[in-house]
Amino acid sequence: ATHKLLLLPGDGIGPEIMTEVKKIIAWFNARGGDTFETDQGLVGGSAYDAHGKSISEADMAKAMAADAVIFGAVGGPKWDKVPYDVRPEAGLLRLRKDMQLFANLRPAICYPALADASSLKREIIEGLDILIVRELTGGVYFGEPKEIIDLPNGQKRGIDTQVYDTYEIERIAAVAFELARTRRNEVCSMEKRNVMKSGVLWNDVVTATHAARFSDVKLSHMLADAGGMQLVRWPKQFDVIVTDNLFGDMLSDVAAMLTGSLGMLPSASLGAPDAATGKRKALYEPVHGSAPDIAGTGAANPIAMIASFAMCLRYSFEKVAEADLLDRAISATLDKGLRTKDIASEGSTVIGTSQMGDAIVAE
Ligand code: NAI
Ligand code: MG
Repeated sequence: ATHKLLLLPGDGIGPEIMTEVKKIIAWFNARGGDTFETDQGLVGGSAYDAHGKSISEADMAKAMAADAVIFGAVGGPKWDKVPYDVRPEAGLLRLRKDMQLFANLRPAICYPALADASSLKREIIEGLDILIVRELTGGVYFGEPKEIIDLPNGQKRGIDTQVYDTYEIERIAAVAFELARTRRNEVCSMEKRNVMKSGVLWNDVVTATHAARFSDVKLSHMLADAGGMQLVRWPKQFDVIVTDNLFGDMLSDVAAMLTGSLGMLPSASLGAPDAATGKRKALYEPVHGSAPDIAGTGAANPIAMIASFAMCLRYSFEKVAEADLLDRAISATLDKGLRTKDIASEGSTVIGTSQMGDAIVAE
């Protein structure tokens, strides 16, 4: 089969780390089997410079038609003063909205070679492999009313509204259960049903979805604040965590920092399955931004970007062996003591962006 990828490198270190992903794609294409056909577009500040919008309609159409979008990073001081609706981030938000990417997947994996670099004890994180599934298009970030109003007593009132409908909870729960089946088959759902009505509904719908379609998966529930504590205390108790937009934002940042630096963290955002083909729209991107402070110096760590492509192999194309191979190549490269500057430690060999890409290809 041929898979169509749209590459959107973006700004800052985005193009530098995308160059390393292209080496990986070229390696898979040269190896035979399925092939990846790549097209490239502009997003963020680079798109604004070219045509005054943070993503053009032509590139949006390409993103909608692609089997997967591989996204670098956007933004930088150069575009701090551009109008709000065409600022670099607007390109990413438009992609998320039009592609309806409601499921954000953030793995927290501990690479053995980096276990001692964590602020936590080795035994707590060694072998860690958890996946946080965060609802991305609903909840308190989008609910209405959302405003600051003036009160008669001269005070102001800030209002955000947490809103979830059954279908939104059902579809994110289904993603979490499906993913668990490809892993250790366990899902922990987190909400605050003790103080939030949306938490009560969340708990009910996850439980009902489980009973109706996924009763083979082990399901547990945890209050989100206790979940935050447990994530730090003994993270290995979790396999897949499913939670709402706000709690997921915080819990995924906590989980990410259990194991490493920003330059190591991949992510995936998935949409609903297409009615005709059953395939989900998907966008894969590193968690970090465009790192303007090191752009152009050849120091960027390409691992978050390359690991995001491994997620693409795994989740968009069900190429599990290939994804495992790529993850093992990253791990083996680190085992050899090769490090970009951001993850360097005593006794390691510091290399640049391009050398890191080459080393992973060689593995
Ligand atoms: P950032 O993630 O770009 O950088 C934070 C720090 O981590 C910097 O010191 C940077 O050098 C370092 N870093 C990040 N990625 C790295 C990598 N791959 N290798 C080595 N070091 C790395 O966040 P910051 O500085 O807050 O934002 C910079 C720009 O990126 C802003 O314009 C921001 O709006 C944008 N941004 C874009 C995101 C996206 O495209 N999804 C996400 C976060 C920020
Ligand atoms: Mg966050």
